[in-house]
Amino acid sequence: MDKVKIIELPKVLDKRGNLSFFENTKQIPFDIKRVYWIYDVPGGELRGSHAFKKSHEFIIALSGSFDVVLNNGEDEVKYNLNRSYKGLYVPNLLWRKLENFSTNSVALIVSSIEYDKKDYIRDFEQFKKTRYEIK
Ligand code: TYD
Repeated sequence: MDKVKIIELPKVLDKRGNLSFFENTKQIPFDIKRVYWIYDVPGGELRGSHAFKKSHEFIIALSGSFDVVLNNGEDEVKYNLNRSYKGLYVPNLLWRKLENFSTNSVALIVSSIEYDKKDYIRDFEQFKKTRYEIK
């Protein structure tokens, strides 16, 4: 959990509209292999509820806001993401839930690996066991 951090991205302020960006490994502490986004989330819905064995992720609220709840099997922390110029770095082996999506919010997620369903741990008890074994 101590590796989790908010990363502030460059912001190019402009009267015509602002611009932010990130580049492979410069702002993000891993090699980017995949980008996906979550949108049109109905009110009250929950995404995530799993952990990744290997994948590191960087999560940005490109639009609107939502909460990222992280759990390491012992402690839980909640981050409210609501700015398009900063995001949350989430290393592997942390249980995550994305919840409390505002209307029209967009979650942009950058991953360190290509999609691999075998990387998911979808059972919380199994997650705690895996963390314990790896430690
Ligand atoms: P999942 O990661 O379970 O969603 P959540 O955001 O709630 O954790 O993904 C939902 C479905 O989308 C799953 O059936 C697999 C598919 N999917 C891909 O095909 N590629 C991807 O990169 C991702 C993230 C999901």
